[in-house]
Amino acid sequence: MKEILLASSNAHKKEEISAILSPFGIKVLSLKDVGEKGEVRENGHSFKENADIKALHYYKRHKLPIIADDSGIEISYFGGYPGVLSARFMSHLSYREKMELILDIMKDVKDRKAYFVAHISFINDGKLYGYEGRLEGEIAKKIKGENGFGYDPIFYLIEYQKTIAELSDEDKNHVSHRYLALKEFCDDIKKNHII
Ligand code: IMP
Repeated sequence: MKEILLASSNAHKKEEISAILSPFGIKVLSLKDVGEKGEVRENGHSFKENADIKALHYYKRHKLPIIADDSGIEISYFGGYPGVLSARFMSHLSYREKMELILDIMKDVKDRKAYFVAHISFINDGKLYGYEGRLEGEIAKKIKGENGFGYDPIFYLIEYQKTIAELSDEDKNHVSHRYLALKEFCDDIKKNHII
């Protein structure tokens, strides 16, 4: 099994990325596994910039193949906000409170289009690669579902007529923005013998 260090201390991301990559023979190591606390300032202006910052930071320290995910939700009605600020937006509130606030602001709004975006940066042998996944959905009318994390309970998938939090972990990992980016990554490493 090939080992890759994940530049994230988000346990949900670790679980999802491990589940998606293990069928490809890749074992995901966590920052804890290499004695890191996971504190990097993400001051980039795009998902790519932030993912690159995280990947480069840990590559310099460990010289291992590194994968970094930077992701978030873009809401059309808010002009794409919170986007790269998804984790920091209204950080004094719980996710439940943040979602209630969004639903309240949008209670009469017709344009409910939203995207989940994930940028995956990968570094191996000093070379940096990038892959992006975008998933289109809508902001639901109500908070629904217990699975997943973050904004999953308000991200409604028309095709499934469910929020992502109502999908099983397995189903989420076959449709998500993270899956779409990681699929590109897996196709690339296989085709181009990158690891
Ligand atoms: P990051 O650690 O800066 O990439 O933060 C990503 C943030 O975007 C998370 O903390 C969530 O708020 C949101 N997010 C990213 N991916 C997902 C997902 O798959 N489901 C729900 N929320 C997500």
